[in-house]
Amino acid sequence: MRDLAGKSAFVTGAASGIGLALARAFAQQGMRVMLADIEGGALAESVEALRREGHAVRGTVCDVADAGSVDRAARESIAAFGKIHLVCNNAGVGGRTRDSGDISLDDWRWVLDVNLMGIVHGVRAFLPHLRAHGEGGHFVNTASMAGFLSGLGFSPYTASKYAAVGVSEGLAGELAPFGIGVTVLCPGWVRTRITDSGRNRPARYGGPEAAGAAAPNPIAEKVAELVRNGLDPEAVADRVVEAVRANRLYVFTHPHMEKNVRD
Ligand code: NAI
Repeated sequence: MRDLAGKSAFVTGAASGIGLALARAFAQQGMRVMLADIEGGALAESVEALRREGHAVRGTVCDVADAGSVDRAARESIAAFGKIHLVCNNAGVGGRTRDSGDISLDDWRWVLDVNLMGIVHGVRAFLPHLRAHGEGGHFVNTASMAGFLSGLGFSPYTASKYAAVGVSEGLAGELAPFGIGVTVLCPGWVRTRITDSGRNRPARYGGPEAAGAAAPNPIAEKVAELVRNGLDPEAVADRVVEAVRANRLYVFTHPHMEKNVRD
């Protein structure tokens, strides 16, 4: 999608981190943007901040793990902007780092429902609309380097991100004839609130968990340090804007980690 100005975007997980940076970056290109997120307070603050910067944005509270919630957010976005061209299925949660024998089924379901089914729900809700308006469009699905490299104690997250890569690769071939592009975003460590994902765990998966509430875990502490020292989300978003314009399937933001995939 070469021309972005005047078109409209829908971004999930947009109240924080990479999603907020994506919303801002596409708004800076002259797009109208619907910010969707499960965390209502943070969402309202982010929408307000982007409006103060002069951007044409709106917000909708949406749980991407719930197909009905995504369908409703899609209808609201189309009603607000007329047509949606760009869908960023970005919302994601980290889950807890622990021994595989101790990962609860609730944790498995929560991470897969948000990170994988969130993408499925976003594609399902918007694809008929993108095909119908015929102006072309683009899906950006946020995976991770964890979509290529497995790690200790991260099985649900790794499974969800490998699946996100697989879904995106398949979708790219399927949608190319319709003029609809696909990008799968595969960052390494980025400075966001991902290690505090438990703040948004709904009651049906066991409820919220404060960062640091779990028993001390050296891997989790190392991950928190890597995230604190990670890439600026704005730099990640700039790469995504370029990839959408160039219709590039993969965005790797950390070249030294990309090398591990090839080796
Ligand atoms: P973040 O925690 O700062 O932002 C995630 C956003 O998703 C939050 O605003 C949160 O409220 C929202 N969210 C959580 N559950 C949701 C749900 N059920 N429905 C709707 N929104 C929901 O974290 P970050 O890092 O910005 O995460 C964005 C994406 O980037 C995720 O898919 C994550 O897996 C991915 N990623 C992050 C990396 C990092 O180092 N920060 C590295 C690689 C990938």
